[in-house]
Amino acid sequence: MKRIAPAHRVRGILKVPPDKSITHRALILSSIAKSESVLYNLLECDDTLRTFEILNKLSVKFKGDFSRLEVFPPTEFSTPFSPLFCGNSGTTARIMMGVLASVKGFYVLYGDESLSRRPMKRVVKPLKKMGATMLGRNSDENLPVAIRGTKLNGCFHKLEVASAQVKSSLILAGLRAEGKTIVEEPFKSRDHTERLLSHMGAKLSVKENMIEVEPSEIEGFNLEAPGDFSSAAYFIVMAVAHPDAEIRIEGVGLNETRTGLLELLKRMGADVEWEVTESQPEPVGQITARSSTLSGIEVGGEIIPKVIDELPLLALLGAVANGTTVVRDAEELRKKESDRIASIVENMRRLGLEIEERRDGFIVKGPQRIQGGIVSSRGDHRIAMTFSLAGILSEEGVGITDAECIRISFPNYFDLLKGVTK
Ligand code: S3P
Repeated sequence: MKRIAPAHRVRGILKVPPDKSITHRALILSSIAKSESVLYNLLECDDTLRTFEILNKLSVKFKGDFSRLEVFPPTEFSTPFSPLFCGNSGTTARIMMGVLASVKGFYVLYGDESLSRRPMKRVVKPLKKMGATMLGRNSDENLPVAIRGTKLNGCFHKLEVASAQVKSSLILAGLRAEGKTIVEEPFKSRDHTERLLSHMGAKLSVKENMIEVEPSEIEGFNLEAPGDFSSAAYFIVMAVAHPDAEIRIEGVGLNETRTGLLELLKRMGADVEWEVTESQPEPVGQITARSSTLSGIEVGGEIIPKVIDELPLLALLGAVANGTTVVRDAEELRKKESDRIASIVENMRRLGLEIEERRDGFIVKGPQRIQGGIVSSRGDHRIAMTFSLAGILSEEGVGITDAECIRISFPNYFDLLKGVTK
């Protein structure tokens, strides 16, 4: 069990690890390009290693390491003898489905226990509409999924949920389909795939929540991944929630489809500033956050996809803020690495904090005293990191069982945390 002691002071200037979403995409897109790529500052963690190993098995050649990686795409993927392991990574499984359904060959994707419970029909069904030959467990709902790659037909998809994984999968399938593919989301989700593909020369246009892609070849590129905003989020929230704190994070991704948390923190009255210093192909900059007096807010609607991975932090912010914090329209949280609504509610209660569970979110009244206790990560990296902050803000410390799962996205998290807390 990992024990997190309360901190008296929080100070520091830091860089967070590279962006996980961009790393997956950089690896996958460079592997289907016409020419070589050089990728800098990629995130090396459990999830991205699964993508890397799968591409390796498909005969993509790599030279170097994740700080500077040369990628040599093959003219055709080779059909591997064995199934392809996606581990805990939904991004790997879902995006690879769109890629593999549209190239020649036979592939089977499978995952760990948590990933095997997560919904896959949201990708398999629209890919089948394009003519894909696929078969998944539980009537296509779950992994394993078998794919016989074939020529697909472009078509119009209206997504029921805003999901960057589903959207990316369909865009990549559309890249090699016959005719135009259109994907419309109810709200805009993270747009890294669109940005990187445009940068690589794909015929792609974006109008609000609608993306049109035409069959096109893409060129290799040089790309440096920025720091991951979702990793930075833990340090930002720690700073605004702690009574004696100032944190500065440099070189972090500030793509607006990811930074909904900053908007919400402003609404809560937080002392947080940010500045974009570079913008191509992804906005990058710095964030400063300091101790703040926070007020509760209501969160729902179109901001949800822009803050989806940071929503567990809202429970903690709600507990330290004055007034009521309501999170709604977030039922998708139940379909992540764990049922995040259930994980948040269980762990808040284990720490003696009051929270009301809703089908699509939760309600927290503050301010509440965080005394301490023992929580369970439920094998979910974002739950473990969220409740580590409860430890920092607590009176007596918090123990986290199965905290090792943090390596799924943020292998050096506890080292960085230690470096900025006293
Ligand atoms: C991701 C998209 C989101 C997010 C996940 C990463 C991506 O999932 O929660 O952590 O890289 O595309 P959904 O597409 O299921 O919303």
